[in-house]
Amino acid sequence: MNGSLHQIEVEDRWTLIELLRDHLELTGSKIGCNRGECGSCTVLVDGEPVYSCSTLAVWADGQDVLTVEGLEKDGQLSVLQQAFMEHNAPQCGFCTSGQLMSATALLEENPEPTVDEVRHALAGNLCRCSNYNAIVEAVMDASRTGDA
Ligand code: FES
Ligand code: FES
Repeated sequence: MNGSLHQIEVEDRWTLIELLRDHLELTGSKIGCNRGECGSCTVLVDGEPVYSCSTLAVWADGQDVLTVEGLEKDGQLSVLQQAFMEHNAPQCGFCTSGQLMSATALLEENPEPTVDEVRHALAGNLCRCSNYNAIVEAVMDASRTGDA
């Protein structure tokens, strides 16, 4: 988890978001719909974006889980996080951590995406504030800056 090893006994019915928020105090990932529709709970499991509300905690056993708390390094926000701030991509902020995680996965795989590729990668992350243009601009800006 975010580069650290955690050994924790989980119940079969726990979802990954429950494990993160209720048992590991990693509350950056948000619960929006809690049924696989909004993307606010998105985290990366072995580099792939997943809806943590729809992923059982036991499925993450032995896997590398990255949450929004793991994006900053030595107190420095990632280039992508900084671009989000510069472009006012967070409005209420509820969707932001999920957007950041999906965009992080995209830029890892495709450091110079087109606008359409960014939109496609973020299609599973809804923003109730409808701030999509600013979010896409922030991702494009981070891709130009590099090392997102
Ligand atoms: S809270 Fe997981 S997809 Fe909405
Ligand atoms: S910033 Fe409010 S839901 Fe996206």
